[in-house]
This record gives sequence, structure tokens and C-alpha cells, in this order.
Amino acid sequence: MPKNAGIVSRRPTPSPILGPLLGLMLGAVALSMGSPVLASEAGPPPPSAEDLLRAEHLETEILSLDGDPAFGEYLGGECVTCHQSSGAGGTIPPIAGLPVDHTVRALVEYKLGLRANEVMRLMTARLEADEIAALAAYFAELSP
Ligand code: HEC
Repeated sequence: MPKNAGIVSRRPTPSPILGPLLGLMLGAVALSMGSPVLASEAGPPPPSAEDLLRAEHLETEILSLDGDPAFGEYLGGECVTCHQSSGAGGTIPPIAGLPVDHTVRALVEYKLGLRANEVMRLMTARLEADEIAALAAYFAELSP
């Protein structure tokens, strides 16, 4: 028996349709398996309209308060263990000298989960509106 007889008989019948079709199907399967992974790599889902509205209401409420810087200094003691004064570099942004509305927005977004950072979410979870106002007033007074 010739050496290549087996190979010849096992050769699949060439099909001009099945080949590309199979490729498409495999591609679709790969895509459908891949997409959840891709979605989770892209971060949390975008906030809903309700979340955005909630954040806006809370921000407006806090900005209407007269934040007490002395109370903010008292509350802010634990913040500065991470947030060193100016340009400390690394992954922790400096917060001294930030405008009130910037700090309020950031804290509200962490509190409501619109900004995904576990540390800051925990830091803000129990802060009341007047406390956020006080912290923002205090840090705005500091020189950056
Ligand atoms: C354990 C460390 C830690 C503590 C304590 C901490 N922070 Fe933060 N903070 C961070 C990190 C890390 C980030 C950056 C998170 C990110 O990537 O969104 C951050 C971000 C922020 C931002 C956003 C700054 C910007 O310009 O976007 C503000 C404002 C802030 N923190 C305020 C506070 C306040 C006020 C407190 C105290 C109530 C506090 N932080 C306590 C680690 C900390």
C-alpha cells in the first residue's frame, strides 16, 4: 500500500461554503464568550440616569450649606494620613486647595458609587451632607 494512501482518503471534501461558515460561527462563539470579559475589563457599567440625578441633588444640597471649616479640620484628620499636602505624587491626589465644588462633587461621586474607588467609597459612605460641606470648606482654605 502506498505510503500516502491514508492521507489521501482522510482529506476532507473541499467545500467553498462550509469553510468560511465555520469560521464565522467560531468567531461568533469566541465573541459571545469574550464579551463579558471585555465588559468587566472596561470597568463598571455607566451610572444610570437615576444615580446621576441623585448625585446632582445631593451636590446641590451640600453646596447650599455653609460648610464649617473648623468642623472640617476636625473631620479631616484622617484624610491627611493619605492625602499629604501638595504634590506627594503616587496614586493619591492632593486635595489641599481644591475648590469647594470639586471636592463636594468628588466626595458625592465616591459616596454614591459613581466613582469606583473602594477606599474612598468607604471613607465617604457615612459622611452626612454637613460633614462633606465642612470638609470641602476646610480643604479649600488650605494652600495647595
Ligand atoms: C486610605 C487612604 C485615603 C484616605 C484615608 C482618604 N483618601 Fe481620599 N483618596 C484616596 C485615593 C487613593 C484617591 C484616588 C482615588 C481614585 O483613583 O479615584 C482619593 C481621592 C480623593 C479625592 C478626589 C480628588 C480629585 O481631585 O479627584 C478627594 C476629594 C478625596 N480623596 C478626599 C478625601 C477626604 C475628604 C478624606 C477624609 C474624609 C479622604 N479623602 C480620605 C485615598 C484616601
